[in-house]
This record gives sequence, structure tokens and C-alpha cells, in this order.
Amino acid sequence: MSVHHIPVLLNEVLRVLEPKENEIFIDGTLGGGGHAEKILERLGAGGKLIGIDADESAIKKAEEKIGGDKRVIFVHGNYADIPKIIADMKIERVDGIFLDLGFSSLQIDGGGRGFSFTASDEPLDMRYGKSGSGISARSIINSWNKDELARIFRKLGEERYAGRIARRIVEIRKRAPIETAGALADAVLSAIPRSRKLNKRVRTIHPATRVFQAVRIAVNRELENLETALLSAPDCLAPGGRLAVISFHSLEDRIVKNHFRMLASDGIGEILTKKPVMPSFEEIKANSRSRPAKLRAFRVNNIFKI
Ligand SMILES: C[S@@+](CC[C@H](N)C(=O)[O-])C[C@H]1O[C@@H](n2cnc3c(N)ncnc32)[C@H](O)[C@@H]1O
Repeated sequence: MSVHHIPVLLNEVLRVLEPKENEIFIDGTLGGGGHAEKILERLGAGGKLIGIDADESAIKKAEEKIGGDKRVIFVHGNYADIPKIIADMKIERVDGIFLDLGFSSLQIDGGGRGFSFTASDEPLDMRYGKSGSGISARSIINSWNKDELARIFRKLGEERYAGRIARRIVEIRKRAPIETAGALADAVLSAIPRSRKLNKRVRTIHPATRVFQAVRIAVNRELENLETALLSAPDCLAPGGRLAVISFHSLEDRIVKNHFRMLASDGIGEILTKKPVMPSFEEIKANSRSRPAKLRAFRVNNIFKI
């Protein structure tokens, strides 16, 4: 089966980023290259796009789409390392940075790393990077103590039954380790109250959604990477450079919103999105995964203040 990732808020991203001829752009979350392809169309023959992804298979997929384009430099790496990545290329500053956070459809649908509770036989891994670096979801679920598990379910998943779920996981793994996405989903389902499972009006999302989100964020240090990238972005942007971020849950969006406010109050530039830009009804109908997306953008001053 050929899996596609549909780029989210594509026209809105192009509107705020305004890629122009001869500019240099960074797509820090290249994925299948959907946004990158359209940004490239606007950069003209003299432009350049640096496409970064932590997942080697995402880079391969993007290469199928834009690999023949000599203006693209592919980097298998972490967007938190943008300053080092451009310094290694002897590039001082870029005109635009784009981040489309989280995972892509290519990784969830049959990606083999247990990102989704519907992928019941897949091993619990959830690392974007396949090289095996960093802690896996399996290690977190089977070795962190009850309080640490409850803390991430509460903080990173905003899960109401965090304590109950953590307790149940610890009970289950005493008998045998929890090895697959399906086993984790079953553990969550067995821990939450029956009323929550049966109440279809309240249950708009699968009961395991929040726990899977929490574990994925912890495994990939997603909030730390985002904060690091936002802190270094203004120093990597040329005068008038633009930064746009699409986030998919409130924790990320809060970080982006507060960061842009801080930059604006420090006089570094201007927030381009007074309110987050969200997908239209039509976009959500065509691509339900776009539903939670929020786009925020910032432009640094044309002339740097000293
Ligand atoms: C939502 S997808 C991007 C989709 C892309 N915009 C497109 O149109 O196809 C997010 C991508 O970011 C990557 N990613 C997540 N965290 C990363 C990080 N810290 N550094 C680099 N890539 C990361 C994931 O591997 C995934 O491929």
C-alpha cells in the first residue's frame, strides 16, 4: 500500500512564510516533502532548501519527491541543531524556517514503530530516528516507576486517569513486559473506568490516545527540542526572516505562543498571526488529521537593533 502524507495548512504556510526568489529556507521537519516541494516552487533557480528530518525513512520518501532538485540539501538530523547544521554548511543566516511538528502519516500507517494504538502487533518503539539512539517507548513503559509514568501521562498527555493507568501498567508488567502497541492500549483500556469507555458522548477520542501522545513526546523529547529550536531561531534568521510553526496539541502551541510573545516584547520582530491559523472545515473534511493543527508565525525585524 502506498501511504501519502497530505501537507497541512499548505496555502496558509506559504502566505506567512512568503518564500521569494533566491532565498534560503529550512524545512526542519521534512517528512514526505509536501510543504518543501511548494516552498521550492517559489524560491526560483537561485534558491536553496535545507530539508531536515530525524527519520531516515522520511528523508528517503522526500527524496522520491524532490531528490532530483539540485537546490535541496537533505540532512538526517534534529531541528534542535539548526545552528550547527547551517554553520557546517558555512551558511550564516537563512530567510525562513518552517516546523511542522510531530509525526507524519508515513510513520503511523504501517511504519512498524508502534506509534498508534491501532497498530496492535507493532513493537513499542516510537523513536523518530531509526538508528536506535535514545530511549524507546518499551523501555519507558517497562522500567519507569509508577510516579514517573503518571507524571508524563498527566503532563504530556493531559490524561485524567494518569494515576490509575500507571498503577495498572506496573501491575501488568510484573507478570510479563508490555511489548507491543496493542498490549499498551489494552492496559490503558483495562485501567479506565467503565463509564468512560461506555459514554460515547464524552469519548470523542480513543481512550489510549493521550497516553500514546505522552509516551511519544517523552521518547522524542519533543518539547525540549521545540524550545531549543525556538530559542536559537532568531540568531539563524536574516533581517526580515520568517519562522512558522504548526503544532498539534496545546502543550506545543503554548510554548510557541509564549515564545513569540517574548520575542515581540523584546523588540526582535513581529507576530504575523495574532490568533493561531486553523484548518478550514473543507480541509478537515478532506484530511481529518489536520483537525488539531495550529499555525503561528513570526518575522524578525528588517534591520537588527543593537
Ligand atoms: C508532520 S511531519 C512533516 C510533514 C511534512 N511537512 C510534509 O509535508 O510531508 C513531521 C516530521 O518531523 C520529523 N521530526 C519530528 N521531530 C523532529 C526533530 N526533532 N528533528 C527533525 N525531524 C523531526 C518526523 O520524523 C516527521 O517526519
